[in-house]
This record gives sequence, C-alpha cells and structure tokens, in this order.
Amino acid sequence: MPAPLIVVNFKAYGEVCGPRGLELALSCQAVSEDTGVHVIPCPQMVDLARVCARLSIPVWAQRVDGVGPGGHTGHTTAAALAGAGAAGTLLNHSECRMRAFDIDAALSSCRAEGITTCVCSNNVPVSRAMAALGPDYVAVEPPELIGGDISVTTADPSIVSETVDAVRATNPSVGVLCGAGVKDGKDVSAALELGAQGVLLASGVVKARDPAAVLRDMASTL
Ligand code: G3P
Repeated sequence: MPAPLIVVNFKAYGEVCGPRGLELALSCQAVSEDTGVHVIPCPQMVDLARVCARLSIPVWAQRVDGVGPGGHTGHTTAAALAGAGAAGTLLNHSECRMRAFDIDAALSSCRAEGITTCVCSNNVPVSRAMAALGPDYVAVEPPELIGGDISVTTADPSIVSETVDAVRATNPSVGVLCGAGVKDGKDVSAALELGAQGVLLASGVVKARDPAAVLRDMASTL
C-alpha cells in the first residue's frame, strides 16, 4: 500500500456504533476517492463484515489473535478477517496489548491470508523489536498522549524520527506510522516530515462534529 496513509481507528467509541460506524466508513471512502489519499477505516469488530461489504477501499480490523482456526472461543483469526473482507489489521494496540509470541503467530497467519499488518508500539525499542517480526507497518504511539489534544508530532517529535531510523535500520521494508493526539492537517504533514508514511488516529476524527471535514483538511495537506 503506497503512502501516505490516514488510518482511522473507530475504537469502541459510542459515536460510531452500528449504522454510525458505516456512515464514518463511507466518509473515509469519499475522502479517499476525492483526494487520492489512502484513508483506511478500522470499524468496530462486530461491524467489520458489514462495512467491508459496502466499501470498495481497504478496511482494516482493530485486532487479530495469534491462533489458527479451532476451539478458541471469543478469538478472531486472520482467516476470519479475510473471510469478512478485511484487507488489513492493527495488532498490539496499547489498549489491546498482545504477548510477543502471539504477535509473531498472528503476523504469520496474516501473511498466509494476505492481510496487511500494522503492529503498534509505545516507544523506540519496542518499535525496533516489532520491526524485526516483519509486519507491513509499525505504528508508534506514546500511550500518555492517546486521546489527548497535543499531537505526538508536537509533544514528542523525536519518538517519531527515532522510530523511523530504528525501523529502517532493522527492516527497511517495514513502513512507519505515528499516532496519538493527531487532530488536523498540520499534524499529519508534520508526521510525514518526520519520516512517517502516515498516521494512526481516532478521537480527532471519530469525535469530531464533522468527521468528513476533518479528514478533508488532513488529506488536503498531503
Ligand atoms: O489508534 C489510534 C490511537 O490510539 C490514537 O488515538 O484519539 O489520540 O487519535 P487518538
């Protein structure tokens, strides 16, 4: 997937439950098609298949488990994501952490199913370790800035540039995203200037009065 990317994580926000989740996903698609910037919705898991069925752009899941098909009640396999029509998935989000060997197993299953992978990390050493596992992307997000008003690109730009350097040195085929507090076009272009291929964000779009307008502002700067 070519850069730049704006990945929109719907999390479990009430603003995007059920039909409102589909509405935001359709806005992501409209902005993506109008601007040529890749805007990727990550809807709530129960809405994944329904959203995938209505959209023609790539849709990602918010998580996947490191188990194969079988007796694993409540788990989500890479095969199930592929069956639902998902093109990619987040893993190890700081609100949904995984053990290293589960991340590794999930990455293998995703590779086998052709699912794009984006592993989240909380700092530079973890970004380096995650890059060594060979995902498509590593997304660095300082947990203390998540959901806040100050973008990682303003509060802690070095975590982005140092992650870019660490990931490039470890596995140059892995892309880097950054996230936490990203709210507007200025934050998105700052992320790209720091060397990231895009951003992973949530509240700035999901909780906005006019999410489509925020997405258009972000895309317009790229
Ligand atoms: O997955 C995106 C994320 O954790 C950042 O959230 O609300 O700070 O954009 P937010």
